[in-house]
Amino acid sequence: MAWSWSDPPSGIYPSALTSESYARAVPGAHDLIVYGQLWPQACDVSAVELLNALRQGATSSPHRPFVFLNMISTLDGRAAVDGGTRGLGGRADIEMLLELRTVADAVLIGAGTVGAEGYGRLLRRPERRERRQHQGLAPDPVAVLVSHALDLPWGAALFAAAEQPILIYTEASEPVPQVAARLELVRMSRLSLPEVMRDLLSRGVHMLLCEGGPRLNRSLLEAGLIDELFLTLSPLITADAREPAIVAGPALPAPPRGSLAWILKHGDELFLRYGIGRPRAGC
Ligand SMILES: NC(=O)c1ccc[n+]([C@@H]2O[C@H](COP(=O)([O-])OP(=O)(O)OC[C@H]3O[C@@H](n4cnc5c(N)ncnc54)[C@H](OP(=O)(O)O)[C@@H]3O)[C@@H](O)[C@H]2O)c1
Repeated sequence: MAWSWSDPPSGIYPSALTSESYARAVPGAHDLIVYGQLWPQACDVSAVELLNALRQGATSSPHRPFVFLNMISTLDGRAAVDGGTRGLGGRADIEMLLELRTVADAVLIGAGTVGAEGYGRLLRRPERRERRQHQGLAPDPVAVLVSHALDLPWGAALFAAAEQPILIYTEASEPVPQVAARLELVRMSRLSLPEVMRDLLSRGVHMLLCEGGPRLNRSLLEAGLIDELFLTLSPLITADAREPAIVAGPALPAPPRGSLAWILKHGDELFLRYGIGRPRAGC
């Protein structure tokens, strides 16, 4: 049953974080990152506790997985610095990203982003993969790429990660180069994101994390395929007009609205979670 953003079920927000509750959630973990939750209630929380609840609260439709987008932006709205995200986020942003990957069945990444970021195995820490297995998930979330022409950056570290399963949807008929990663290709007569979603669901992908980039985000938003946005606000201001915003391309014909679900803080970074396209009741 879907729940409304103005009325989340009780229990979806964790109680106050204690070292005991963290040790229970993450056996063997030492580097506790504590986020201060500012809204809807003030308490200290870990990403593990917060995101365990995400799988419980999320519902996939009959046609597609539940899709949650994670992005970081500077204070002046830029999604990259010097062509990539490395200079943007701190430890707490990386922890949030890795925990989002830990709860996802698969991770959708735009072709441009693979080239810019390089990647590698999506979950390198055995502890995170073990936690997934305890919950009945495959140890590694599948990396899902979409590319019309299959002109992918084959030298990227993602393709060199032998343990990483990768699923590529394409219209192209060309052969792909030999890479170390476990590749599977799905050739379509026309690459369509709703079709990709349907196929992912048929493969058991119920929770799909999207990591951008901005052009792919726009297509997903236009097609109404994003349920949630996790947005980190980096305290940087760059004024670099060459860099895109978190969504790039022509204006969206029907701009979706976000409904705020939480605000967290770590250092000078803010972590916002929005439901997308589900208008809040009231003013
Ligand atoms: N701030 C953040 O959180 C964040 C996150 C991710 C990326 N980034 C930054 O964003 C930049 C890369 O983003 P980008 O916008 O250039 O590329 P992108 O969105 O990652 O990838 C776009 C490519 O995806 C393929 N694609 C397939 N189907 C598509 C569809 N329906 N709609 C759109 N694209 C589709 C196309 O390649 P084909 O021609 O092969 O089909 C297209 O060129 C980098 O600078 C990266 O660092 C920032």
